[in-house]
Amino acid sequence: MNHTTSYRSGFLTGEIELLEGKLVNLRVAEKEDLPLIANWLSDLEFTGQYQGLRQFSKSEFEKSFGVEDKHELKEFIIEKKDGTKIGFIAHFYVLHVAGKLLEIGYSLIPSERGKGYCSEAVNIMLDYLFLSKDIMRIQAATDTRNVASQKVLEKAGFRMEGTLRKCGFIRGEWRDNCLYSILREEWKEPKILTKR
Ligand SMILES: CC(C)(COP(=O)(O)OP(=O)(O)OC[C@H]1O[C@@H](n2cnc3c(N)ncnc32)[C@H](O)[C@@H]1OP(=O)(O)O)[C@@H](O)C(=O)NCCC(=O)NCCS
Repeated sequence: MNHTTSYRSGFLTGEIELLEGKLVNLRVAEKEDLPLIANWLSDLEFTGQYQGLRQFSKSEFEKSFGVEDKHELKEFIIEKKDGTKIGFIAHFYVLHVAGKLLEIGYSLIPSERGKGYCSEAVNIMLDYLFLSKDIMRIQAATDTRNVASQKVLEKAGFRMEGTLRKCGFIRGEWRDNCLYSILREEWKEPKILTKR
């Protein structure tokens, strides 16, 4: 373990507010973050060329906040150590005939990409999820052309499972996704979060 970071009490029960890393912290999104997230998700620069076009109004977004849904979506704001909000990372369930599969997704504002922030955010999220939930695997899907996202996943220990052919309608065309996963035994132990 290269450094010791902290978490508030309640961590193991999942009642977490702040997950601290070396470069970034993850903080559970609050209602007051919703206008910012709605703006981000409606901004084509933010979503990037490999995610679908969606436009959200603030009120639509607020309506869905806190509503229990089958995907159990939970969003965390990625903050730099000075508190600047630079993106989000979320976990949610994908329903599969084999059961509920836990998946993560993330995005950063363009000016903060390429600085290692998302790689650390993913490592924090893996530690948090494997420490707090009795789960065997975490997965992520990304456009086959999205090299940056694939690198983030591979650096965090995810392995490519295969290609989901023409599974996403992105900017006018059906696109293939790579499906990645990491198993608990491949994660092995926390990389960022440690008990204090
Ligand atoms: C994908 C994304 C989250 C990556 O976040 P990030 O903080 O820029 O990633 P990191 O800085 O941790 O970089 C990860 C690796 O990808 C590399 N990388 C970054 N941008 C790249 C690009 N455009 N092409 C190739 N490699 C790239 C980095 O060099 C780094 O590799 P290295 O450690 O070997 O140098 C960010 O680019 C983003 O928000 N993109 C738009 C939204 C999106 O695509 N989200 C993911 C949907 S699945």
